[in-house]
Formats: sequence, C-alpha cells, structure tokens
Amino acid sequence: MLLIEWKNQDKVGHPILDEQHRGLVGIINTLQYFINEDWPVSSLHPTIEALEQYVMFHFKTEETILLKNGMSQEGMNKVRAYRSTFFQELREHVNSAIFRSETQLLTDFLVDWWAGHQSEFHDKLSEYLKHNPESVAVNE
Ligand SMILES: [Fe+2]
Repeated sequence: MLLIEWKNQDKVGHPILDEQHRGLVGIINTLQYFINEDWPVSSLHPTIEALEQYVMFHFKTEETILLKNGMSQEGMNKVRAYRSTFFQELREHVNSAIFRSETQLLTDFLVDWWAGHQSEFHDKLSEYLKHNPESVAVNE
C-alpha cells in the first residue's frame, strides 16, 4: 500500500501543476518505500535531494502561475511566507533523518504537509484559477 494515494479529486485543474503534484506524491511514496525496505539512511540522500529540488521548482511554478493570473502582492506575500516556513521545517526534518536516522518522522511530516498543502493551498489555488480567465487559456 502506498503512503499517499493519489486521487482524481486532488487535481487543481491546471495540467502542469497536476503533473507536478503527482510527481511529488511519487517521490514521497518512493522515500517511504525505501525506508520500509530498510535502506540505510546514506542511500536515501538522492531521493531526499530530489524531493527538495522538486518542491523548489514546484513552488516556483505555482508562484509563476499565480502571478500570471493576477494574484495580489498581499496574496503572494502569504504564499511566500508559507513556503519559507515549509522549507525551514523540511530542512529540520531532513537533518533529523540524516543525522539521527529519524526517517519516519520525515515521512510523517511530509504526509501532514501534503494533506495541509492540499486543503489549505490547493483548494484555494483551484478556486482562484477557476475564476480567472487567464487560467482557462492555460488549461486549454
Ligand atoms: Fe502544490
């Protein structure tokens, strides 16, 4: 069984974002798989690095789409603050995983983050894109 099950209702209605979200879920599930298989922490580094890089360009993509669709400066500031907090927490969990072998805490954090990212950010993003004419052009 996968750690996070991808569902069609997880789609935000923007093709590249939906692809990237599936990719993120795939990396998180892969990390959990390696942990379940008792891979040594040292061999998890490439997957963790891939996750960090993927999240970084995913956030950049979301930001670019929101800006293109006319999000206010105030809205963007909130998005950036959220991301900054996330990266700080991710780094702390990655360090705990690498230096104290607390790998399960890292994947627990990622599962919680994914659920929160979905309910607190993607739902709003989906609504925002639905009501913005530019997003329709991007979706076609
Ligand atoms: Fe996202």
